[in-house]
Amino acid sequence: MGKKVIGVLTGGGDCPGLNPAIKAVVKKAIESDFSVIGIKEGWLGLVDERVLPMTLDRDAVRHIDRQGGTILGTSRTNPFKSEGGAERVANRMEALGLSAIVAIGGEDTLGVAAKLYEQWKLPVVGIPKTIDRDLSFTDYSLGFESALQVITDSVDALRSTAESHARIFVVEVMGRHAGHLALRGGISSAASVILIPEYPFEVGRVCELLIARKRRGVRYSIVMVAEGAMPKGADLSLISQEKDAFGHVRLGGIGHYLADLIEEQAQLESRAVVLSHLQRGGRPVAYDRRMGFYFGIAAVEAIMGGHFGKMAALKHGRIVLAPIKEATKELRLVDVATCYDTDYYRAKQSIIGVLGPVEEPLFRSA
Ligand code: F6P
Repeated sequence: MGKKVIGVLTGGGDCPGLNPAIKAVVKKAIESDFSVIGIKEGWLGLVDERVLPMTLDRDAVRHIDRQGGTILGTSRTNPFKSEGGAERVANRMEALGLSAIVAIGGEDTLGVAAKLYEQWKLPVVGIPKTIDRDLSFTDYSLGFESALQVITDSVDALRSTAESHARIFVVEVMGRHAGHLALRGGISSAASVILIPEYPFEVGRVCELLIARKRRGVRYSIVMVAEGAMPKGADLSLISQEKDAFGHVRLGGIGHYLADLIEEQAQLESRAVVLSHLQRGGRPVAYDRRMGFYFGIAAVEAIMGGHFGKMAALKHGRIVLAPIKEATKELRLVDVATCYDTDYYRAKQSIIGVLGPVEEPLFRSA
């Protein structure tokens, strides 16, 4: 009898950290006597038989952990949106002789994984990935630290021009409906004002804070605004109303809108920078490489233990398995009460036991 085959796929928005996870899955699987194929373009590769899989062996993955993006390609395909889509996934898995699928993705990709497991009993395990960090049941999702590094480096680069011109820079970051990227990116880049979707802001208060800095003799300020943040009483700022296969509209535009309002209401010269997809670009930072390594191994261990419908997760510094269904049920948002200062629009300035550094897995030492 031939070896059992694992299929691995990446779905949704790409980010650095996917390739290290793919490499870890492949290496651990091969050591555990499986063979691995890469399913291309997310769930599309299991819905459309014209999308051919690729063989993944040690040679194919040797160097990929240093590369951003995903060697498998990705898409926002939702098999449950097309007639007979889920059935095609089941048939295709059988045709390819797959004993399990490792789905690496966020809310949408893993939401599909949960349904395929619950409704079709397909042997699926997950690895959490999203720069939005909005999956429940895990303290980390791949890509988040790399995106934060881009934000931090970008703000560092902006400071000299901001200071030279004595301007306000409004930096718009991603995150959809969650403010984790803005809050933590704001902390690591020392932004003066941080605006998150979880707490609608008052433009007047933003102006007050900026004017107060100016009066203290500070030449410039950085305002970090999440793409999903909104002024009190206003609607989300959208690039497009059109919805993708998971019902998401495209957010964006708040940065420019706010910069104009600051200029008008505070009489401070302002510019906006939208970091957009740069946040998903570049090489994975060290932390994403390590987390990809840990999550990849955990996913194969989950398969070996028959723990389908589960995803690798980081919880209180340990790698554990969490039910995908629960992890994708509700978005994990910033806890305003403990993490956000609603008077000064910044991270809460009391910290013990609340907003610690990113936790490193302990393995099984204790
Ligand atoms: O979910 C990840 C994310 O980068 C969001 O932060 C952002 O709103 C969205 O994807 C952008 O999606 P797309 O790559 O389809 O433009």
